[in-house]
Amino acid sequence: MINSRRALIVAALVLTVFFLISIAHSSSDTPAELLESQKHHAQSPEGSVGYTPSHPHAQRQTVQKPMVDMSHMSVYDKLAYAYPYDVDTKFPAFIWQTWKRSAADKDFEFREQEASWTQNHPTFVHEVITDELAPNLLRLLYATVPEVLETYHALPLPVLKADFFRYLVLYARGGIYSDIDTVSLKSALEWLPKSIPRETVGLVIGVEADPDRPDWADWYSRRIQFCQWTIQSKPGHPVLRDIITRIANQTLTYKREGRLSRLVSNDVVDFTGPAIWTDTIMDYFNDERYFNVAKGKGSIDWRNFTGMTTSKRVGDVAVLPITSFSPGVGQMGAGEVDDPMAFVQHGFEGTWKPESERHIGET
Ligand SMILES: *[C@@H]1O[C@H](CO)[C@@H](O)[C@H](O)[C@H]1NC(C)=O
Ligand SMILES: *[C@@H]1O[C@H](CO)[C@@H](O)[C@H](O)[C@H]1NC(C)=O
Repeated sequence: MINSRRALIVAALVLTVFFLISIAHSSSDTPAELLESQKHHAQSPEGSVGYTPSHPHAQRQTVQKPMVDMSHMSVYDKLAYAYPYDVDTKFPAFIWQTWKRSAADKDFEFREQEASWTQNHPTFVHEVITDELAPNLLRLLYATVPEVLETYHALPLPVLKADFFRYLVLYARGGIYSDIDTVSLKSALEWLPKSIPRETVGLVIGVEADPDRPDWADWYSRRIQFCQWTIQSKPGHPVLRDIITRIANQTLTYKREGRLSRLVSNDVVDFTGPAIWTDTIMDYFNDERYFNVAKGKGSIDWRNFTGMTTSKRVGDVAVLPITSFSPGVGQMGAGEVDDPMAFVQHGFEGTWKPESERHIGET
């Protein structure tokens, strides 16, 4: 790395800009808005499972946290300590994307796609993080969780690193992550219907695949698969904390056993991709630490998300129908690109996906 010092300085600058902007945004909460959000919080709408934030008494941090010795904490606890979750905060107005070269490079391949995000989100901060910048940004964000940095460096394929990076940047900073080959069709400010107050939601996800056919397992790893090419979150969301912990545990275990170099592209779906993402979300929905599972009516699984045509809130997660993030695929009930519920269109060029994760219609 010839330019590693320069890259670290650029990473620090990016973080400073994002930090200043997030202060400006959070101070725009008026007391009336805060009251409003507490009201929404108190009366959870019908049909959603009871949800308790991971920090029941979480309030806006006004005092600096005392220094503690974190070296004996688990990765999960270190992450929780570094980035606490508060569902009452606003969704940060950030858009994160990653690619091997920057948008300023004359050979940048995704100019139209990238511009669509800026056009639909003129007040958002939008950053394309290059492969050179990413590890430096992570060094600044995860200095207190060395296992995360070790995991990132140990992951043997670029696509594994790219998957891990999206969870990490959203966990630390929040906002929207979207793959670079994805077109924004509608502003994220319009993604949630009025019936789902933004103060009650900390994570917005979309259905990637709902293959209602007997041979679905030949094509997809899960009966309902949530996509991870576009995700919106508030910082510190427990689903992100869990998937980061799982990936770190798995990677460091493989590293210790000398098995990492044997990972091949077909392993990506389960290791960092949509299969582990879907499993982590489903486990969250059935986790009694967050959900009043006993009071809820039965466990939550793919049946709760098949055939959806409108958005649905489960606890603090908004699940968008397949049309929202996968319009125009011509199957599995997905609407067209001009459907009012179509929010982004994914191109499947910017990240490598195994054949089985591409849409069936092409064959
Ligand atoms: C992975 O998790 C298991 C179960 O919690 C734990 O016993 C093990 O030490 C972890 N391994 C690593 C490398 O973190
Ligand atoms: C999920 O579906 C089950 C039936 O399969 C139902 O009993 C339960 O209430 C549903 N939960 C939610 C949150 O939709």
